[in-house]
Amino acid sequence: MVQRIGNEVNMAVDIITPVNHMKKVIDKMPNSDLKKEMKKTKEGTSRRSFFSILWIGLGIVAFIELIGVVTAFLLPRKKSVKAGDYATIIDAGPVDKFPKESVTAFIRGKFYLCRLEDGGFLAVSRKCTHLGCTVPWSDKDKKFVCPCHASAFDIKGEVISPPAPRALDVYHLYIENNIVKVDIGKRIKRSGFRTDQVVYVKKA
Ligand code: FES
Repeated sequence: MVQRIGNEVNMAVDIITPVNHMKKVIDKMPNSDLKKEMKKTKEGTSRRSFFSILWIGLGIVAFIELIGVVTAFLLPRKKSVKAGDYATIIDAGPVDKFPKESVTAFIRGKFYLCRLEDGGFLAVSRKCTHLGCTVPWSDKDKKFVCPCHASAFDIKGEVISPPAPRALDVYHLYIENNIVKVDIGKRIKRSGFRTDQVVYVKKA
C-alpha cells in the first residue's frame, strides 16, 4: 500500500514537470524523428549564420573597392609628359662624337641619329611606316631594311623600296652648346625627305 502511494506521488511529480518528462522521453528514444528534427534545426541555424557573415564580409570588400574607385576618380591625375618637357629630351652627345655618314641607334628613344655626308643631323624613327616593325640599319648596305615585308629606306629615311608608303618619321632635334638634343615627345610624320628637316651646327 505504502509503495503504491509512493509510485503515484512520483507520477504526479512527472506530470507537474512536463519539460523534464519530455526530455527524459526523448533521451530514451535515441533515433527518434524529433531528435533528428532538433539536430537539423541546429545545423540550419549555424549554416544561416555562416552565410550572414560571408555576405557581410563581401559587402565590406565591395564598399572598400567603391571608395578606391571614387578616390581615384576625384584625385587630380598625374600630368602627362608633353613634347619639350625635360623628360622627353635626350642628350645624344657632343656633335664630334658622330662621324659623317654614320647612323647611331638610341634604344631608349627608339630613334636613329643619322649624320649625313654634309654634316647635318636627322633623328629618324625606327618604326616602319608600313605596319610598324622596327627597322634595323645595315652598315654594309647603307640602308634600313624592314624585316617584316622588306621595305627599304636610305640614311635620310626616304623610301627606296615599298610597300612602305612614306618616309620614316623624324623627331625634333636641336643643337645646344655643341650637344645634340632630340625631343622624343615630338615625332613628325612626313611624306618624303626635305632639306629643311636637317639640322646643322650653327657657325659662330
Ligand atoms: S612593316 Fe615594314 S615593310 Fe611591312
